[in-house]
Amino acid sequence: MKKNTKLYETATALLEPGKGILAADESDATAGKRLDMVHLPNEPEHRRDFREILFTAPDIEKYVSGVIMYDSSIRNSTKDGMPFADVLTAKGIVPGIKVDLGVRDLEGFKGEVVTQGLDNLAERFAEYYDLGARFAKWRSVITIDEDETPTEQSLKINAIMLARYAQIAQAADIVPIVEPEVIHAGDHSLERAELVTTKALQILFQTLLEYRVDLSGLILKSSMVLAGDSYSDQTSPEEVAQATLRTFHMSVPHACAGIVFLSGGQSPERSTQNLNAIAKMGEQPWPITFSFSRAIEEPMLKAWGGKPENVQAAQEALVKTCEQNSLASLGKL
Ligand code: G3H
Repeated sequence: MKKNTKLYETATALLEPGKGILAADESDATAGKRLDMVHLPNEPEHRRDFREILFTAPDIEKYVSGVIMYDSSIRNSTKDGMPFADVLTAKGIVPGIKVDLGVRDLEGFKGEVVTQGLDNLAERFAEYYDLGARFAKWRSVITIDEDETPTEQSLKINAIMLARYAQIAQAADIVPIVEPEVIHAGDHSLERAELVTTKALQILFQTLLEYRVDLSGLILKSSMVLAGDSYSDQTSPEEVAQATLRTFHMSVPHACAGIVFLSGGQSPERSTQNLNAIAKMGEQPWPITFSFSRAIEEPMLKAWGGKPENVQAAQEALVKTCEQNSLASLGKL
């Protein structure tokens, strides 16, 4: 297979030690939930303000290597008219784009879903590249339920979708982030989460290899392995670290460019502590860092409160959170 060095350069920039990726790729509907927290209506002007606070924060580039945007944000600009992608590029941050179009029911498999968005993906990538995107994200959703769920069939079809997306991304010189999110909500044990995550990742990487995806130009975005949020016995950072790394060692080929974590509804503090515990386990075959959304944005939203006079405080809170996660990714907290 012909090697694409552009992909490796982008992956290396995204995985620079001590930095992580900000997942600011909420759909417009989900951005409305963030705005709800600061009592603002979900209108384009408020969504722009929210995203502008994130992207223009002074010094965020010290701790953030890439930002994942949503379609409406990569097409949007600051109040002064500078396109958001250019704002990021000027700071040395790699612009990224979420390209999946959300999930639909997987008929015949109660409670399971499959991610949409392959139609016209090559054309969409060409346009996103022109808008400045150099990496992308596609999320599939894996829910742990009764013994049967997730089924092998749903893991396989989602892995094929991820592999097809990754092929198309790499052909467009865009680094794919593949995100098989194992949902934290539920009453499953740590052991069950570990089994399911290991199986999901084994099927995913086997499929990526079958479809000749270049793993050196691909980043895995994973859940941390932890008991469900309503399970009686919650997982300590050390247990999370051990289970998560055991899972990766059983399933992620060393050729994979790197691994980043979603926060999955854990509190900002817990996400950071768990990341720190994982990093403290020592050097791994892959760079490992954060790609949180809620766990980065929550402190900033609290400080902002939707008020123009709080914008500076919001940006300071944001950068502080990113700094803490940077330290955690190095095991230095
Ligand atoms: O797809 C999910 C996002 O990329 C990460 O979001 O950190 O809030 O789970 P989260």
